[in-house]
Amino acid sequence: MKVKILRQQDPMSDPYWQTFTYEGGRDASVAAVLDDINYRDDVIDIDGNPADRISWECSCLQSICGACAMVINGVPRLACDTFVRDLKGDTIVIEPLRKFPTVSDLVVDRSTIHENLKKADAYIGKYHQSREKNHDHEYQAGRCLKCGLCLEICPNYTKGEKFYGPMFANDSYLITARSGGDTSGIRQEYKEHFAAGCSKSLACERVCPMNIPTLASMAKMNRGHI
Ligand code: FES
Repeated sequence: MKVKILRQQDPMSDPYWQTFTYEGGRDASVAAVLDDINYRDDVIDIDGNPADRISWECSCLQSICGACAMVINGVPRLACDTFVRDLKGDTIVIEPLRKFPTVSDLVVDRSTIHENLKKADAYIGKYHQSREKNHDHEYQAGRCLKCGLCLEICPNYTKGEKFYGPMFANDSYLITARSGGDTSGIRQEYKEHFAAGCSKSLACERVCPMNIPTLASMAKMNRGHI
């Protein structure tokens, strides 16, 4: 198979495509394919030119940490949870998430996710014991990896703009459900930075590796009582 990767040496340099060959099995994950290329004694591209090892991030390799989020064959996915056997054709095309600044190759800077939470003061205030009726959905919403795949696919999200994207709906719900006392602050932030900008394409639910039902978080927040 061919593995075509959009590479970039550093944040200031121009991106370029480089293609490698992969001769391993189809049961490998894309993370394993990247390892296979990187662990060769000499990394060479398909034309026999020496190549630098590919920068990419991973930690758990079990779809838990979200570090390996990237665009694979045009779809935002986790590399450790995407398998060659499930991809069509004989070329795997891999790009970094494009809605975040590229640091190097497939490594991007996702700090904007946490910066937006800080800007919205999205912290649990006085801790409130969870109500039993909320347990199931709090668990679902709390599984967000902060991987950024939902922001990548969302047609309304652009870095630096007012709309903070789908994960903010889940965070707003969790904070509202768990905070005792006045939650008007986070509700207002939700309206301004999520509800006003969401066009309900729900592409976010399709790519979420944790299958978080974001629409249910939105419905609970929009109803105004949790
Ligand atoms: S390496 Fe942790 S989710 Fe893929």
